[in-house]
Amino acid sequence: MSEPRPTRQIVIRRPDDMHLHLRDGAMLATVLPESARHFARAIVMPNLVPPVVTAREAAAYRDRILAALPEGAAFEPLMTLYLTETTDPDDVAAAHASGLVRAVKLYPAGATTNSASGVRDFDRVRAVLERMAAIGLPLCIHGEVTDPAVDIFDREAVFIDRVLDPLRRATPGLRVVMEHITTGDGVDYARAQGADLAATITTHHLIINRNHILAGGIRPHYYCLPVAKRESHRQALRAAAASGEPRFFLGTDSAPHPDHLKEHACGCAGCFTATNTMALLAHVFDEMGALDRLEAFTSRNGAAFYRLPLNDGSLTLTRRDKPASWPARITGAPGPVTVFDPGFPVHWHVSD
Ligand code: DOR
Ligand code: ZN
Repeated sequence: MSEPRPTRQIVIRRPDDMHLHLRDGAMLATVLPESARHFARAIVMPNLVPPVVTAREAAAYRDRILAALPEGAAFEPLMTLYLTETTDPDDVAAAHASGLVRAVKLYPAGATTNSASGVRDFDRVRAVLERMAAIGLPLCIHGEVTDPAVDIFDREAVFIDRVLDPLRRATPGLRVVMEHITTGDGVDYARAQGADLAATITTHHLIINRNHILAGGIRPHYYCLPVAKRESHRQALRAAAASGEPRFFLGTDSAPHPDHLKEHACGCAGCFTATNTMALLAHVFDEMGALDRLEAFTSRNGAAFYRLPLNDGSLTLTRRDKPASWPARITGAPGPVTVFDPGFPVHWHVSD
């Protein structure tokens, strides 16, 4: 019998999730406790139906989130606005000045879940982007082209060349977050830019490649957008996340859909990782010999980019012989939501 591995433990500052889907109504009530358990704050995505477009809508959504928090939970939702071709620059600036809104989200129309009201003609959002550059308000970008002629596995790399780089050149000073990068191309582009560009990386893109979705049977719970790419891209993402470089930080993109809509002839995109993200990240960073850089990725770099104070409080991550466990799915009014299954035992346990 092999010797049990020694218990190891690290303590990190309480983390932030810089890209999170909380939804609304019954789904919000179901998933919010999962994020509030470990995370102090989250950048909350505005792709509700209908989307969160105005400051007034963001304030109302924030109130609904706060009302859905479990008793005693300390969790701050950091609100975003959904950029449309009719977004009013003055409304955006006022929402930023009041502290209500921390970012604006750009979805190319048709790129992903609830993106129909997104941007088709970038000239029509130029005035908003210029105002955002002037006031330092970040633009979070879903970076995929929607051109049906572009292969789905190439849509991020093509977006960088065709849309992202021209857009940044046309709007000097605009602070941009490349959301959920999935390619070495994204990592390379981010590394070549200055401090006005950052990139979030999800937990699941550090764990799965496209084989996990498609080889040996289709796994709908691994389908998300941008879709996971080949293994070399996963390796590039892991190296970036574990590098400690300030431009890379965690945005889980935890995106709940009820199981019957995932396990469907036309299944929804999204991996639900809110429940087990911190244990999974400890596993990944441990594998990479980079546990000392986990805190930068989850708790420091994002706060610095968003010009927020670091969180008080801590999380303790402990490696035990006994694997950690969590529910296979969480249940609530919208129906069961499957928790992301990494497909291997995870020995890291998370506690306050
Ligand atoms: O997989 C995804 N799910 N990617 C997105 O961009 C949106 C998200 C969702 O809202 O379900
Ligand atoms: Zn998302």
